[in-house]
Amino acid sequence: MDQAPTKRLYIKTYGCQMNVYDSERMADVLRPLGYGLTDAPEGADLVVLNTCHIREKATEKVYSELGRIKELKMLKAEAGGGAMTIAVAGCVAQAEGAEIMRRQPAVDLVVGPQSYHRLPELIARAHRASGEALAADFTPEEKFDALAPSTRVSEGYSAFLTVQEGCDKFCTFCVVPYTRGAEYSRPAEAILAEARALAESGVREVTLLGQNVNAYDDGAGGGLAGLARRLARIEGLDRIRYTTSHPRDMDEALIGAHGELEALMPYLHLPVQSGSDRTLKAMNRGHTAEHYLRLVEKIRAARSDIALSGDFIVGFPGESEADFEATLSLVRAVGYASAFTFKYSRRPGTPASSMAGQVDEAEKTDRLARLNTLIESQQSAFNAAMVGRTVPVLFERPGRHPGQILGRSPYLQAVHATGPDHLIGRIVPVRIKSAARMSLTAALELETA
Ligand code: SAH
Ligand code: SF4
Ligand code: F3S
Repeated sequence: MDQAPTKRLYIKTYGCQMNVYDSERMADVLRPLGYGLTDAPEGADLVVLNTCHIREKATEKVYSELGRIKELKMLKAEAGGGAMTIAVAGCVAQAEGAEIMRRQPAVDLVVGPQSYHRLPELIARAHRASGEALAADFTPEEKFDALAPSTRVSEGYSAFLTVQEGCDKFCTFCVVPYTRGAEYSRPAEAILAEARALAESGVREVTLLGQNVNAYDDGAGGGLAGLARRLARIEGLDRIRYTTSHPRDMDEALIGAHGELEALMPYLHLPVQSGSDRTLKAMNRGHTAEHYLRLVEKIRAARSDIALSGDFIVGFPGESEADFEATLSLVRAVGYASAFTFKYSRRPGTPASSMAGQVDEAEKTDRLARLNTLIESQQSAFNAAMVGRTVPVLFERPGRHPGQILGRSPYLQAVHATGPDHLIGRIVPVRIKSAARMSLTAALELETA
């Protein structure tokens, strides 16, 4: 049994789901040192900012948050509360570790995504001499081995599980290949052990994570489809999801698995970024719009009700009005259940940042609004089509109002229902009564109460 914590740890997480997973693992390695999680930074002994570098705004947020944390560090020392150690982790740490130390001297240490298993040692060293930076000195293999997540417990019913990290695709706009390194797949046995531990602690649903999760290949054959089949055999693990997929890695086996494997949920996040072949080429995506549309057809042939989601960038260098309209056409042709849309953000060191034809901000804003209007209408239509249907919902937590419980449909829609708390952690058929753009309201179908 863990000892009662003696030190307070505050972690703030930015960016993608992998950062959420990593933050949990950092808390795990620090727990044996006496650190217990707290949900406010005031008075904390250790503050970790787990950062994201994907767009300029995400990076700037980190520096403004550091300014605020520095004030709290001073207040704590003045009140005789002892030292507050400030650590910066994640993709900004990897990309500009030295810059962070220079811009904010109150930072005690900087740690990149491949070095989290060394946090205890780094903290001990930071207490002796300020100003440590440790970026990619380690391989993902060492990290995952050392974090030993096969003893993981989860308080919730749905959990993230990293199976793949890094990216070899080098889309010309993107920092991820530089911050997360080359594609690496964890061995299936380690993933299965972690999943079993999660299932034993009550988890019903896992979301497999990777920057290119469908490129998963541990060298033993079978790819992500094989891994999903093995995971589906674990007692209690009824739902499997995965994110994010690249269109180029969506192979026949994985498409086939969507038609056969009941545990594989009918939701797929498959970013396309643009509907213009010219833009896709400049982005180095390695596929055309036609290729993507044909892929969507194949996936729907295997699983007709699958909910599709995507990522889009507007205002990529050189994007003309006609290129943008090609994106709108692609969106109309696919029909998305949801999507994430972004204005192109220039990232230092990436090829696109120095391309000619940078699009001005007002134009990006205008295109983003037009794209969002279209996607929002598709999202509302997708949700409205659920009304009257009965779907199984995994209830995960109490809702905001008394007597309300909150869960997710197979299509990842948020579903509210009125029902007893003991349904939390169970998968229950419910009848959808009404739909809004972001959520559904349901009534319990059976006398499960
Ligand atoms: N394959 C990755 C993508 C990470 S980035 C994954 O696992 O999630 C998530 C999304 O951010 C990308 O799909 C892209 O749409 C967007 N993005 C990446 N770089 C960007 C940039 N420079 N400007 C705007 N959006 C960007
Ligand atoms: Fe970035 Fe492209 Fe790799 Fe996704 S596939 S992480 S967008 S480089
Ligand atoms: Fe951001 Fe790094 Fe994830 S840049 S999106 S935290 S991989």
